[in-house]
Amino acid sequence: MADRPYIVGNWKMHGTRAMLAEARAIDRAAERLMKVEVALAPPFTLIHATRKEASLIGVGAQDCHPADGGAHTGDISAAMLKDAGAGFTIVGHSERRADHGEKDADVRAKADAAIAAGMNVIVCVGETEAQRDAGKAESVVAEQLKGSLPVDDDVDGKVTVAYEPVWAIGTGRTPTVEDIGAMHRSIRKVLQGIYGEEEGAKVRILYGGSVKPDNAAELLAADEVGGALVGGASLTAESFLGIIVAAAEAQEG
Ligand code: 13P
Repeated sequence: MADRPYIVGNWKMHGTRAMLAEARAIDRAAERLMKVEVALAPPFTLIHATRKEASLIGVGAQDCHPADGGAHTGDISAAMLKDAGAGFTIVGHSERRADHGEKDADVRAKADAAIAAGMNVIVCVGETEAQRDAGKAESVVAEQLKGSLPVDDDVDGKVTVAYEPVWAIGTGRTPTVEDIGAMHRSIRKVLQGIYGEEEGAKVRILYGGSVKPDNAAELLAADEVGGALVGGASLTAESFLGIIVAAAEAQEG
């Protein structure tokens, strides 16, 4: 990993104010682990409080609405998230694609809205098990990238891709290091096709799906892996810090 690894915790629909203690502990530990860029994406209800409690780590959202505002009951715009203290938002997570029927075009509209509001985005892609078994993993992910990534030409630093195979999320199963490397190399090619050689080379590609303290070092060492998007193991400071420490050690080489 050339740049600082980027380790992002996605709390999904977990967390009440009691969990701010975990965010505080993660933030305090981050001070000793400056070789790693750490961020948390708590549920909307905790973004503002997490931002106030944590001064070193990044804080972001898990989704946003593509419109600036209006009659969209229950939705949250990118500008509102920014106002609450979010510096980035995840878009296109497979749980949103599955639970809310989000298509690539919806994901792109959200990513464009977030960037227009001055936030960074983590765009999620990943194949199902049936698609992998059919030998279509790389083509499915390439199509998702082409349809979901923001259209902005100047994406440097604003866009991160998270490769999260759907079958590896919350299952304890992961692809092999070789398979992750092959997919990340394929994603890199698509990124360079979209943004050009130089810009496309700078976009970070995270791996997500059953990353734990005991497999983090191995997964982070795969080719073109610039960090991890972590679900379950980001819910306690203890397990999330295990992953951050593994990333810091990998950085030391
Ligand atoms: P798990 O780490 O729980 O498998 O979740 C991965 C994920 O979906 C992160 O966005």
